[in-house]
Amino acid sequence: MRFSAPPYMYDVLPFPSQKEPWLHTAKWRGVENIFRETARLYGFREIRTPIVEQTELFTRSIGESTDIVSKEMFTFTDRGNRSLTLKPEGTAPAVRACIEHGLFGEHSLLKLYYVGQNFRYERGQKGRYRQHQQLGIEVFGGSDPSVDAEVISVAMAFYRAVGIQKLTLHINSLGSEQSREAYRTALKGYVEPFLQEMSEEGQVRYRVNPLRMLDTKNETDLRLLKNAPIFTDFLDEESRQHFDALQKYLTALDIQYIVDPALVRGFDYYTGTVFEIRGEGLGSQDALGGGGRYDGLVAECGGPQVSGFGFGLGIERCLLALEALGIETPTVNEKPTAFVIAAGSEPEVKIAAMQLLNRMRTAGIAADMDFTGKNFRKQMKHADDLGAAFLLILGSDEVLNGTVQLKDQATRTQEQIKMEDIELELNNRLKH
Ligand code: HAM
Repeated sequence: MRFSAPPYMYDVLPFPSQKEPWLHTAKWRGVENIFRETARLYGFREIRTPIVEQTELFTRSIGESTDIVSKEMFTFTDRGNRSLTLKPEGTAPAVRACIEHGLFGEHSLLKLYYVGQNFRYERGQKGRYRQHQQLGIEVFGGSDPSVDAEVISVAMAFYRAVGIQKLTLHINSLGSEQSREAYRTALKGYVEPFLQEMSEEGQVRYRVNPLRMLDTKNETDLRLLKNAPIFTDFLDEESRQHFDALQKYLTALDIQYIVDPALVRGFDYYTGTVFEIRGEGLGSQDALGGGGRYDGLVAECGGPQVSGFGFGLGIERCLLALEALGIETPTVNEKPTAFVIAAGSEPEVKIAAMQLLNRMRTAGIAADMDFTGKNFRKQMKHADDLGAAFLLILGSDEVLNGTVQLKDQATRTQEQIKMEDIELELNNRLKH
């Protein structure tokens, strides 16, 4: 019996593979670290929530008629007969946790970030998986358009730091519930005469969630919708002012954007501003990230009337975009600084090598050695393969006279150093 990862889920490996170089943990950590550092720079704190939640949290917040709730959730009954769902997104769990722990009462403005796994039973393809990881931001308590700009600027700063410049920021406003209702009616009225010509999916959306008709890649639907009424024409005055102010902030912050009236996003909780960042080289799955304002969600989930604004960025799409654009992916350094080589099979040499290795690590110097009984030549090759900067070679002579041979792999020079000076010597060399 051979087991494999579930469909459209993947393993991230400790070494880069030829076929899928982006599935390498050192790259994932490199990108995650940049996100954490960006979030710290902007004054955000981390929240971690369980991988599962009560199913109702998602049906209520995301909306029964959305694709996620109606066909993509991984839902199961636990042994206590509770319906639980693997989280399909991170916003509702963050809201639930803040309500449960009374954080809204204690902080007038909460700036949170998370790095978390999400599960959606989607039709898999490159860039669209059934388990994906989001780097997310949520701000609670700020209804001013400067909050929208602040959150969007974190996303843009992250991509700048990662090295992705070929991207476009699409923004739109979904306005108030009244303006959405007026727009829905106008859109349905426009589509009605040629409803039968629309794709099956378009027709379903017409009935259950008309705004989502705009979110299509179907050629026929796009053609039919070409002259559809435009959302921004239906905006109420307050939402229009908010949206105008956001655009002024973005311009002042040197962030370029496109106003995209067809941008509706797939969650019912959005109110007002929505945005999406699209990248190049990703084919149809080009949304690097997206988010928006959700001023009714906290109250809907049983909390106080607190507004929210956030986004989620898919780490997979970020890594795929870097690969497609030929940009070097930020990677954490996993090379050992020093590699200890036992030159000889005498037990005292091996013991001294283990002690030396221990000393290195105690001094905070990343170090490794062979544990499989390789001969001298193979140990040297192993050190090369790992990319160690220095070799610490110990034979029975060195053990007897309390020294070690220090070989600098960059200069290929070798020197005998007193054992008690080795940490100091290495630290000095590392400084230069
Ligand atoms: P979302 O647009 O569904 O938003 O997901 C955010 C990002 O996660 C997408 O732009 C994409 O990069 C990535 N993503 C989503 N689904 C997949 C998938 N199946 N495979 C690979 N990557 C995927 C949300 O989830 C909202 N909670 C964002 C938000 C936060 N809005 C407000 N606050």
